[in-house]
Amino acid sequence: MLKKSIEKAINQQINAEFHSAYLYLSMSSWLQSVGMAGCANWMKVQYQEELAHATHFFDYVLERGGRVTLAPIAEVTVDFKSVMHVFEETLKHEINVTGLINNLMDVAIKESDHATKSFLQWFVDEQVEEEANVEQILNNLKLINGEGQGLLMMDREMQSRVFVNPFPGKA
Ligand code: FEO
Repeated sequence: MLKKSIEKAINQQINAEFHSAYLYLSMSSWLQSVGMAGCANWMKVQYQEELAHATHFFDYVLERGGRVTLAPIAEVTVDFKSVMHVFEETLKHEINVTGLINNLMDVAIKESDHATKSFLQWFVDEQVEEEANVEQILNNLKLINGEGQGLLMMDREMQSRVFVNPFPGKA
């Protein structure tokens, strides 16, 4: 049985994961509108990943006999200045999510909930990868000044990203 403090914290995280999904879908829409189909695809895969994260938390609460209560999802940005701006915002957002996951881990440690600590470790590791991936994209964008032929080539590469369910057989 989940302690109420853990249940509440995970419910907030479920909302944050859906908010991330919503933000990335909004970014995907903007990227598509400026002809960056490959970047739009990359961001849509990002959206699918966030949905998988939200569902994984959802399933965990139920598995531990808790109750999921879904709250409204906060508004997201719909307009961006450039492709560079989109990925700068993505990095900022992922750094924020890392903070949320760390806070969640702090609650699990405080409550001596070892099962939740074990469950959360995947997300701790995932955040390292999430931040590194976006930093790499930003570095590449800076190298090509975020424009021209380089951007078109990069957009083509971003087209190859496909969604792989991180929790096969579950979400
Ligand atoms: Fe659910 Fe991008 O972290």
